[in-house]
Amino acid sequence: MTTIKDLADLKKRGQKWAMLTSYEMMTAEIFDEAGIPVLLVGDSAGNNFFGDANTIPVTVEELLPLVRAVSRSVKQSLVVADLPFGSYESGPEQALATSIRFFKESGAHAVKLEGATTTTLESVKRLVGSGIPVMGHLGLTPQSVHQLGGFKVQGRENPEALIEAAKALEAAGVFALVLEMVPKDLAKRITETLSIPTIGIGAGNGTDAQVLVWTDAFGLTKRPPKLARRYRNLRQELLDGAKEFAKDVENGSFPSESESFD
Ligand code: KIV
Repeated sequence: MTTIKDLADLKKRGQKWAMLTSYEMMTAEIFDEAGIPVLLVGDSAGNNFFGDANTIPVTVEELLPLVRAVSRSVKQSLVVADLPFGSYESGPEQALATSIRFFKESGAHAVKLEGATTTTLESVKRLVGSGIPVMGHLGLTPQSVHQLGGFKVQGRENPEALIEAAKALEAAGVFALVLEMVPKDLAKRITETLSIPTIGIGAGNGTDAQVLVWTDAFGLTKRPPKLARRYRNLRQELLDGAKEFAKDVENGSFPSESESFD
């Protein structure tokens, strides 16, 4: 299984790697087989699985079974559970209690949380001190979208503040850091400053790793964001397949003799 030490070694060797989101067993099995070292059960499940407008409504109770499905389905990938909005902001004890649930009830190998407030940094220390690897997340942190005033590039006005926040998270003990919608030169600077791996999404190609939301990467999302590359068009494939199935049923050609029992 991929470990956080393996990821640190990849950074030392200058080898880039990929992370994908996954919310259930089928994609987890496929991405694991494809050799994706880290799968994130993101709270992006909100707008990619549950039909929410954004990540904010997602609850621990909703995410636990998704993480369990992904953890049960991988052989190699490290599974990271996103801590939902409202499940860690009160402080280290709440963050620890929530993370323990993800570890015991869903088999997560690590957790991710957003931001670098004083409270968050204390929580990271508490989790790491309890044996729970933590991934950080800076830049556009979707759980704070209303505070940030929308899904906008972050760090243009005060790049130094983002660098300091990244350094503080590293000092608190995160094993990797997601940088979302950050100008590419700034993301590269942060990557060169830190000794832990950075994982970019809309942060240019100067980071150590890249993450995409799988439904954006493989064409299920109707309008994927600019930052995503579409590797397949699964929406069209499924649409065509569903229409073909309906037609075969309507014209009586499904099921055939060979698809039936005597
Ligand atoms: O929830 C999520 O999918 C994420 C990624 C975009 C990094 O946080």
